[in-house]
This record gives sequence, C-alpha cells and structure tokens, in this order.
Amino acid sequence: MIRKGTAPGGGAAALNVAARSQAVNHGRMPLKQAGVRCLGKCRVSGVSGSCQFVRTIYSSGVNASFPVSPPRAWAEIDLAALGRNLQVARDASGGCDVMVVVKAGAYGHGLEEISKVMAGENVAYLGVANVGEARRIRNAGVTTPLYLLGATWAGEREEIVARDWTPCLSTVEEAAHFNDLAKASGKRLKVHLAVDTGMGRGGFLLADLPNLMSSLDKLECLEIEGIGSHLPSADEDDEFTRKQIICYQEVIEALGGPGRFKWRHLLNSAGLLGYERGVCNLTRPGLMLYGVSPLSIYQEKLSTVMTLKSRITLVRTLPVGHGVSYGRQFVTTQNTRVATIGIGYGDGYPRHVSGKGAEVFIHGRRCPILGRVTMDQIMVDVTGAGEMNEGDEVEIFGPNISVVEVAEKAETIVWEIFTGITPRVTRCYL
Ligand SMILES: Cc1ncc(COP(=O)(O)O)c(C=O)c1O
Repeated sequence: MIRKGTAPGGGAAALNVAARSQAVNHGRMPLKQAGVRCLGKCRVSGVSGSCQFVRTIYSSGVNASFPVSPPRAWAEIDLAALGRNLQVARDASGGCDVMVVVKAGAYGHGLEEISKVMAGENVAYLGVANVGEARRIRNAGVTTPLYLLGATWAGEREEIVARDWTPCLSTVEEAAHFNDLAKASGKRLKVHLAVDTGMGRGGFLLADLPNLMSSLDKLECLEIEGIGSHLPSADEDDEFTRKQIICYQEVIEALGGPGRFKWRHLLNSAGLLGYERGVCNLTRPGLMLYGVSPLSIYQEKLSTVMTLKSRITLVRTLPVGHGVSYGRQFVTTQNTRVATIGIGYGDGYPRHVSGKGAEVFIHGRRCPILGRVTMDQIMVDVTGAGEMNEGDEVEIFGPNISVVEVAEKAETIVWEIFTGITPRVTRCYL
C-alpha cells in the first residue's frame, strides 16, 4: 500500500492528477495548467506543494471515480538552476550574445517549456535541430529568432522563408533555392554559412571557399548575416580544437573579415568554457545550461537542473540463492532485502548500467542496483538500509547521483542520457 502523504498515489484522488497531467500534455505541462495541485514543499503547481503528494482539485471525465496510476517516474526540472547556468554561460561569453541550444526537446528537459523560459531571458536565438522543433516552439507562442542547426530538405524551405527562420547553408544549390523562394515571396531571407572546419557533418568545405562569396553575392534575396562552424572535440582534443579555432578565424578573413558577418559562432559548451572567444560574437551552449560541464574542471560552476525520480513499488526479502532480474546474472548470497523501483529502460534509464555497480539514492543512502535493468522496473539492494516502504521516493540521478556517473556506468555520454528520457516520464517544473 502506498502511504498517505508520501507518494503521488497518496490516495485515489491523488492518482488522477499526475495521470491527467501526463495524458493532457505528454507529461510536460506544468501541473497547475493541467488542473492539479501539489501539497508539500515544491513549486510545481505554483502553490506550496510537493511532487510527492499530488491530488486533484476537481474531478471530471471518465475516470472521475477510479484511481488512475500516477507516474512511476518523473523528472523535476529546476528552472532557477537553468537560469543560473545561463548566467554562467553569459559570463563565460564575455559580452557575446548567446544562442541557447534547445534541440532534442531541450536535451530532454521540455522543448516548449525551456524555450519559453529562455525567451524571457532575451537570448539572441534558440537553436533547433529541424523544422519540426521550430514549429513546436512557434506553436507555443515563443517569438525568439530560431536558428536551424541541421541541414534542411527542399520541401521544408518554403515554410522556413515564410516564417523567417534562419537556416545554415552548406551548398550553393541550397542557397540558390532559398534565394528563389525568398524572391517569390518578395523578401530577403537572413541566412548563415556553415563552414566545415573539422566536424564532417555539414557546411561548406574549405575547398569550396575560394569562389563562394562571389557565387553567393549574386543571390540578392539572401542576406548572409552569419557564419558558423562546429567543434567536434573541444572536450577531448585541445590541440585539434586550437587549430580549428585558428582555421575558423582564417576562413572568416578569407571571406571578407569579421565585419562581413553580423554573427560569428563556433563555441559549444566545451568551447565556451575552455577556449578564448577570438573572433566569435555569438556562443552556442547546450549541455552546460542543463547543468553538466563537458570539461569536468568547470562542473562546480553549474547547478543541477534535472533530478530524475521514481518510487519504491514493492519491498521483499529474497532468500539465499534467489536470482534477480532477466538472465539471473545476480543471485543472492544472503537473505537480501530488495526494493523494486518503478523505472526502467522504457523511461530512458539505460539498460547498459546493468551489472556495472550503478546505484540509486534512497533516504540519504546509495543503494546498488541488482541484476539487469528491465523495461519498467529495477531492483535495488536495501539490506540494512533502514525502513523502506512502498511509495518512498528514489533519486535515480540528480544532486546525489550525478547524471555523469550514470552515463559513465552506461558507457555513453550525458547528452544521450538526457535526450533518452522518454515521454512516459512526467516533467515537473520547479
Ligand atoms: C551545431 C551545434 N552547436 C552547439 C551545440 C551544443 O553543444 P553542447 O551541448 O556540447 O554545448 C550542438 C550540440 O550538439 C550542436 O550540434
């Protein structure tokens, strides 16, 4: 039984709330807008509240008289921490403007919500991966200029021109197509040149540069207002990155000098934290805004934004010789108190941490995961860890278990952990 006052499922009425929030909004609407409120200590609902104990303030719909399951896992997103990290990025940018990278659902933190917050911070651009993300941001009412970080398809360009989103160009053909579309709509489209100084993913190659500006200058309906490039290894290879920064500066000189481009941008989080700005006047941080520094020496400057949480669903004592989870790769060697927790790889918690000594945080203690991560549940050793009850809150990662630690155990990168958190996980904005 879930104890009253401790779990999202603190009562039948309580169970409606989180499900309502999730159903209405894929788990991404502030709970207040979903017609729900929290009781306790957090600011999810705009009233004194806690994600731990949520109940409905009105009942309607087909499930009005039945309990509906609350989310087993949720992510608390600390918007004040996000704001502090933006300030760190701004300080490191030393007077440069900032393009906030919100692609991939703002690294799993919620595309619309984070874009709205960043719009309120007057950032120069929001950087998105593609037209689909740009649409979602505009549909959310955000008017901040949008920059398309990835290549566009021909069929998307009419909308880009119509809605004045800023594409980055990699070929003269693409530029000519945008020019035709802009001419047909009687406007000048602002575009940036992408230059491939080492990423190998997009942009003009260095060999393209000699005649580039003369070709582009004929396209009178394009305003080439920016030039960008991307650093593939600013967190891994200092020597290469320094050469790349010099190369970028040389490219700009060759194309007419810094004065030719209103916006000059190269630096992602690692570039921004670890290197001089040089000729750049716009930075493009992503990860650091979400609280993780790709260069660990700067980690202490940043605040944790996302705390991924779940709850104990069951506590039992398994006898000696009892296997735990698929493949029975863990078998108890003593009577073991095992808590089952309602999160798994179906929520984006990586199965690859299985058998690697990953831990979760319960009641102030680290508790090791036993056996493999399953789709919806993990099992944790809570032997000797004091009283544990169904419904008790568990930190999967956050201030006590760093997401970096989870990524390392999973042999992947933090970017992938954040963006892999699935829609089933309710995002709560604090
Ligand atoms: C073109 C571009 N710029 C900036 C960023 C932000 O990078 P980071 O999250 O490392 O700050 C990314 C992210 O992958 C990117 O693709």
